[in-house]
Amino acid sequence: MQFIVAHDYEDLSRRAARVLADLLGSLPKPVIVLPTGNTPLGMYRELLKLALVDRVIFSGAGFIQLDEYASIDEDDWRSLAGWLRRSFLDDANISPSSVTNFRSSAPDGAMEASRMERAIGTAGEIDISVLGIGLNGHIGFNEPGSAADSPTRIVQLTPQSIRSNAEYWGSEAAVPRQAYTLGLGTLSRARRTLLLVSGAAKAQILHAAMEGSVTPQVPATFLRQLQNVTVIADREAVALLGREGGPRLC
Ligand code: GLP
Repeated sequence: MQFIVAHDYEDLSRRAARVLADLLGSLPKPVIVLPTGNTPLGMYRELLKLALVDRVIFSGAGFIQLDEYASIDEDDWRSLAGWLRRSFLDDANISPSSVTNFRSSAPDGAMEASRMERAIGTAGEIDISVLGIGLNGHIGFNEPGSAADSPTRIVQLTPQSIRSNAEYWGSEAAVPRQAYTLGLGTLSRARRTLLLVSGAAKAQILHAAMEGSVTPQVPATFLRQLQNVTVIADREAVALLGREGGPRLC
């Protein structure tokens, strides 16, 4: 695992964008898993800046949505597909045909998850998965208890995830109770994984993820079993690392 400590959020965002830009520049048809949330917003802004200089930077690339709320209209502005379009894809001129999305309104969640797993197979090998981490250690919507080999599926959101998504939905009651996520098993097939972690609020869970016991109760600990993982975390997020004889940062 490569661990990079960024000075601050802007530095983290620039470094993350650089990793993706290098990949986009080195492969004709890279396949990239894209996350949502606040953490990757700066990376998307940096990528859009790079696209002003290199207008064909995204041509040929395929993108896969990491997670999505279930049982909502596909044109609901709160869908994560809509969030990705507004935050990045539209301004980057990435055509919808280059993006593999969950169908949030699919009537049968299990069938939709299998369709997505097959669609990911058709898109090709995943060259890089860009991930954030939830306060409870979830990756995508792989909530505590998710097995390291779990497939892409529909899941029940935990009360903590419902709480942390309440602001986005306006209230806890409005947050969908189920969501789709690429499984940890699906994500483990990626050639490379990039985890982005920012802010003091994430210090405790980053500590558990990097230095606690590997357990399905903290799904992010599964990243320590993968081969080619880069963590970019800012100084606030790494505040609790390396204090108990755990891995020292370099
Ligand atoms: C959400 C998403 C995750 C995301 C995480 C962290 O619930 N399902 O994919 O990584 O929470 O979000 P943020 O970056 O806003 O802290």
